[in-house]
Amino acid sequence: MGFREVFGTLPEASAQAPGRVNLLGEHTDYQEGYVLPTPLSYFTQVEAAKAEGRVEAYSEELKELRARPLGSPAQGDFLDYLLGVVWALREAGYKVPGARFYIRSQVPMGAGLSSSAALEVAALRALRTLYRLPLSDKEIAVLGQRAEVEYVGVRCGIMDQMAASLGEVGKALFLDTRTLDHENLPLPPGVRVVVLDLGLERRLAEASYNQRRQEAEEAARRLGVRSLRDVADLCLVESLSPPLDKRARHIVAENLRVLQGVEALRKGNAKAFGELMVQSHRSLAQNYEVSLPELDTLVEAALEAGAYGAKLTGAGFGGAVVALVPEGLRDHFQNTLLARFPQLRIL
Ligand code: GLA
Repeated sequence: MGFREVFGTLPEASAQAPGRVNLLGEHTDYQEGYVLPTPLSYFTQVEAAKAEGRVEAYSEELKELRARPLGSPAQGDFLDYLLGVVWALREAGYKVPGARFYIRSQVPMGAGLSSSAALEVAALRALRTLYRLPLSDKEIAVLGQRAEVEYVGVRCGIMDQMAASLGEVGKALFLDTRTLDHENLPLPPGVRVVVLDLGLERRLAEASYNQRRQEAEEAARRLGVRSLRDVADLCLVESLSPPLDKRARHIVAENLRVLQGVEALRKGNAKAFGELMVQSHRSLAQNYEVSLPELDTLVEAALEAGAYGAKLTGAGFGGAVVALVPEGLRDHFQNTLLARFPQLRIL
């Protein structure tokens, strides 16, 4: 199949955007904190053409064609993301009367690798070309997040869309989610970012994610700060009652870990960076309580197999683990893990 078989015309624009893993700075982006994601070399590709009054899309992975008029409410399918970005553009005052999309994606869905942000950013890039919209990459990320939060109805932060829009493969995107200032920093020489996916279903992910957000907001309110980004002294969180103390401890320490991670990257120190990833994972498990026993076991196994560091990536409650592995150990690392977890998918 292709665009022409589905729609009977040729595409007028095409674009792509990558999935991402987050190396450090987990659950900090909705408290104006720091994050450090890196794009994957797996992309979502979109071909597009103009349309009037409706949005249509065919997903090659799902083998489904969906179409709805502009102004339709979200329905919980993949078309929501496309209607969402068109909605966000129109809300921002751009003249976008509709579009048709043909989607091919290499980014696994439901593994915490931001397949939705990849789709939003790819679609926005295609619409930028199609309708000659004067949009910067940063504006594309902001519009993608707005589509997801306000149209699709998932209260995510800005990390995933910024990684998909501004990240560079082989570099970590150091992003301040308060100001959106960012810098792409090269990963240390001789290391590989490896994604380990056990195919764990994400359990109650959305409800639990929203609950963590609320707990973080409550902790900030009780500490009298605009966001937990403004808490520099870890001792302050001890005045909070459980579980808010643990939640705030994670976010405050995680922001510090990103800053330390940036220093480690500037020095090319993979070992120090890996240790911060392990601390991040342990805090996500113990303080933020978003890990699963299977993810903890996989992180420990990755470390035993020679990784500099490993942690869950994304929101947690399932999804994948990201490991930083010395290039020379890659085959040994993969073989060791596959012997122990035959169902493991390694990206
Ligand atoms: C999801 C969200 C991001 C971020 C992470 C946790 O991926 O989409 O905005 O909050 O969880 O770090």
